Amino acid sequence: MEKLQVGLGERSYPIWIGEGILDRLGEALREAGFPRRVAVVTNDTVEALYAKPVLEALRSADYTTRLLVLPDGEEYKNLDTLNSLFDALIENGVDRGWGLIALGGGVIGDMAGFAAATYLRGIPFSQIPTTLLAQVDSSVGGKTGVNHRLGKNLIGAFYQPRLVLIDVETLQTLPVREFSAGMAEVIKYGAIRDRAFFSWLQAKAADLQALDAASLIAAVRTSCQIKADIVEIDEKEGSLRAILNYGHTFGHAVEVLSGYGEYKHGEAVAIGMVVASRVSVELGLSRKEQAEQIRELLMRFSLPVTPPKFPLDDFLRAMGRDKKVKEGVLRLILNKGIGDCLIHPIDRPEDIFAPVLNQLGTQG
Ligand code: NAD
Ligand code: GLY
Repeated sequence: MEKLQVGLGERSYPIWIGEGILDRLGEALREAGFPRRVAVVTNDTVEALYAKPVLEALRSADYTTRLLVLPDGEEYKNLDTLNSLFDALIENGVDRGWGLIALGGGVIGDMAGFAAATYLRGIPFSQIPTTLLAQVDSSVGGKTGVNHRLGKNLIGAFYQPRLVLIDVETLQTLPVREFSAGMAEVIKYGAIRDRAFFSWLQAKAADLQALDAASLIAAVRTSCQIKADIVEIDEKEGSLRAILNYGHTFGHAVEVLSGYGEYKHGEAVAIGMVVASRVSVELGLSRKEQAEQIRELLMRFSLPVTPPKFPLDDFLRAMGRDKKVKEGVLRLILNKGIGDCLIHPIDRPEDIFAPVLNQLGTQG
């Protein structure tokens, strides 16, 4: 079992990472000073797999519990579902003496977190992430929210949890494609922030794919540590935290143009990382072999690395709507070699993206 700390002054919190540690939930909550009455929010898929051990762990530690089950899917991450969650909280008599626990992937974590941030002006919140993406990214750092019909994650709040408890055993039931999508974010941390971690991932790719517990714990720990270090410096994404969006600008364009659902978010980010790494080569920030190493590592986890065929103008338009466009200038996160990165304004995106998309065999 490993413990990390996200250091945010009085809002600091621990991350417990281990294998088969769901039964230690009561102990972890007690140490974190969490309320003795808890509403567990999950979806129907995760309920069937993990509600029982979680509720047993809570009851055996004398917690009063309620289980609130939402429908499974990104399409339910909206204000309607949030309203139904508020109804259930009110009907169950949840007051300020209660805490809320998210049990599931990033969709449940984001939605339950936003509910906790706003219900009764804020009640304590903890995360038990059960997808790799949620374990290495969304459960840490306090971004919560729901989608609006005009865009993803447009309604939300920064609201930090009191505890994140990560049991890598839950990854045993995760569909392989979801696991790979989470690996894209893990590889991202190595590519932008930690050369040694990137090399370690190259060496451990087979063990990780075989879901070897020690390797998973190490990968999740390093990912969470890197994210925690960044969030401690820039919690509200004034500047540095934006580097976590490496691969996301082009990835976002891939998602929009292909229609949401065609690519999983992590898959689109994998394509975006390949494109960003090639742009870095074009701008002399890194070498061709380094871009190739990033592409190869993504491919080892069966992630897509070739952009879909859309006209260059469509990609440029879709990227122009990205959140990282500031005063009309596109700002890309680019890797400097492997293990470092910078935020780079791109004055004439067409001049950079045309050769890169041509190299990658995509219509430019
Ligand atoms: P998800 O929550 O939809 O989970 C993917 C699927 O796996 C779902 O069907 C879910 O029910 C199922 N599942 C979850 N755990 C399982 C398990 N252990 N075994 C079997 N099935 C399981 O998707 P996700 O990739 O975890 O999260 C994506 C969401 O996260 C998006 O809404 C995205 O916006 C958000 N996100 C948030 C942040 C943040 O910082 N808050 C960061 C990245 C992504
Ligand atoms: N997933 C990016 C962030 O948390 O900032």
